Amino acid sequence: MKIILIGPPGSGKGTVSEKLINEFHFEHISPGEILRDEVSKGTMLGIEIKKYMEKGDLVPDKFVVESVKLKIKGRDHFILDGFPRTIEQAQQIKELSIDKVIYLEVPEEVVVERLSGRRICNNGAHTYHLKYLPSKKAGVCDIDKTVLIQRKDDTPKAVQERFKVFHEKTNPLIDYFKKKGLLSIVNGAQEPEKVYKDVKKIVKR
Ligand code: AP5
Repeated sequence: MKIILIGPPGSGKGTVSEKLINEFHFEHISPGEILRDEVSKGTMLGIEIKKYMEKGDLVPDKFVVESVKLKIKGRDHFILDGFPRTIEQAQQIKELSIDKVIYLEVPEEVVVERLSGRRICNNGAHTYHLKYLPSKKAGVCDIDKTVLIQRKDDTPKAVQERFKVFHEKTNPLIDYFKKKGLLSIVNGAQEPEKVYKDVKKIVKR
């Protein structure tokens, strides 16, 4: 099964993906993670990408599209978390025959609070929230025991920019996928367990 997860920054795409992976063994394809990994290596490419990410802008397609396509190649059971983010990107994967597009709908004021309290493990694989999803031991990842850190693009200024970009560039995808009959909307402002229950219903239907 091929699933696309769409939602504003902090809507819970990563959190839902983690649960779907555990239960249904999806491959997780997240350009955000791929790009953060490149930045952490400190390569020339990483230095270039970092400028866009820290401001909250989309990274240009030449750095994103091919690496996503490469990850998808030969796979037929995956979640695309945060791709596509523009109509142009959607057109680049037209041949993929996506099964479902799940849109996590969350009001802006809710996500601002979520992002300010978000902490991730040092390798970026696991996500927590100081209030809503705390780790068992403060500041330490339950799973890989690494130190929890705050993402550089979770500053108020970068979050504001990420929202602007979402509204201008990603929102049109909602209509795009609705017209294709692929879109399901989930209320992402609910408790994490309830959000996952609703997503799971869509995945199993
Ligand atoms: P990316 O890493 O994809 O960031 P994003 O889309 O802004 O989404 P987030 O990861 O911030 O949030 P999320 O929806 O996964 O929420 P999470 O589950 O963590 O992309 C980062 C950057 O990379 C982009 O800005 C861009 O520069 C670049 N990029 C990525 N894709 C690109 C593309 N296709 N093209 C070009 N550039 C691209 O949850 C957030 C917090 O809330 C957590 O603390 C979590 O514990 C908590 N939480 C989750 N669910 C709930 C709940 N139901 N109730 C309460 N708290 C909750």
